[in-house]
Amino acid sequence: LENGLERTPVMGWNSWNRYACGIDEDLIHRQADAMVSTGMRDAGYRYVNLDDCWQTSRDATGTIVADPVRFPSGMRALGDYLHARGLKFGIYSDRGTQTCAGRPGSQGHEAQDARTYASWGVDLLKYDNCNATLDQKSQYETMRDALAASGRQIVFSVCAWAFKPWGPRTGNQARSTGDIVDDYTRNAATGGMPVDEIIDSNNDHAMYAHPGFFNDPDMLQVGNYGTGSVGGHGMTDTEYQTHFSMWALMAAPLIAGNDLTTMSATTRAILTNPEVIAVDQDPLGVQGRRIRDLGEQEVWSKKVQGSGVRVVALWNRAGAAASIHVDWRDVGLGSGSATVRDLVARADRGSFSDGYTTTVPAHGVALLRVAGSETPDVIRIVKTDTRTVT
Ligand code: GLA
Repeated sequence: LENGLERTPVMGWNSWNRYACGIDEDLIHRQADAMVSTGMRDAGYRYVNLDDCWQTSRDATGTIVADPVRFPSGMRALGDYLHARGLKFGIYSDRGTQTCAGRPGSQGHEAQDARTYASWGVDLLKYDNCNATLDQKSQYETMRDALAASGRQIVFSVCAWAFKPWGPRTGNQARSTGDIVDDYTRNAATGGMPVDEIIDSNNDHAMYAHPGFFNDPDMLQVGNYGTGSVGGHGMTDTEYQTHFSMWALMAAPLIAGNDLTTMSATTRAILTNPEVIAVDQDPLGVQGRRIRDLGEQEVWSKKVQGSGVRVVALWNRAGAAASIHVDWRDVGLGSGSATVRDLVARADRGSFSDGYTTTVPAHGVALLRVAGSETPDVIRIVKTDTRTVT
């Protein structure tokens, strides 16, 4: 959506994955304070997003009312609290008559709600897709236009999964998959989607990502270790690192979903690694994609700014460590030497001709910055392919 917003994927925190409906203003204050004190804010996480269940009813004029018991100071005060700390304020509603958790939706109240949000200082709206019977595209366009007319710059986060082709013209980001659970791979006892299936699904829509619009493969589970409110048994730290590295490679919104007030040093290190965050926030806004599928080992690549630079992810889906090779020509680079830096270890690996091979642990990803030379191969193939298709 070309409204000037979300030139790189949004970074922040959202209440849903850890707390679902169990939110109140004290909790949000504590999470916001922790965002500052843990260094998350300074690493780039700015949005504090209330998900479902902050709202209870509409008053006689139709204005949406925040839960007076859980948010006694009101939404305007909450926005002020966040803004005073250099943070941004995100809120949640739904295009239908009710939200997914059964709270009042925005159907028929779009312009009124957009004005209300603007008066509270809201900076982002996540707009869900439950309890809706009217045309999806036009209802999302109605809210898009209402936000544009609200007098405030508000990022529009669309929950139009499965992917819809009108999403990129309607929202700044659009959910591309079902709800994430806190599992690396499918567990029969859990509904929702595990990390590996979400990566596969989100890859199908890579072509749509650009500054102003990013695919949203749902929020992060990093650091929840099975304590969240949306199901899942938790992941190992290697798996959480894979989750985070692949979200960065795919230029996904980085919305933490863990308790920031108690997170471990390991969780904090995963979430705040500046070199991985820089991959996500690269100004070209390209969504990295799978370029080789070798069975249980995969090579993914993302073009980032700078001539001859790629970020390569070597993903080992197997349950045992495996060696994975990337050939420079497969990622659009010349076969001469290129330097390799491991962005998770934050260590230079040296200079290598032709390609690079490394051992990747079970369920792990090697996230590498490769700096070599651009190759004109792609241009040559296009120019010499003169076959006539009959
Ligand atoms: C849907 C969304 C979730 C969350 C809940 C809230 O399931 O996909 O991210 O917002 O609704 O009810």
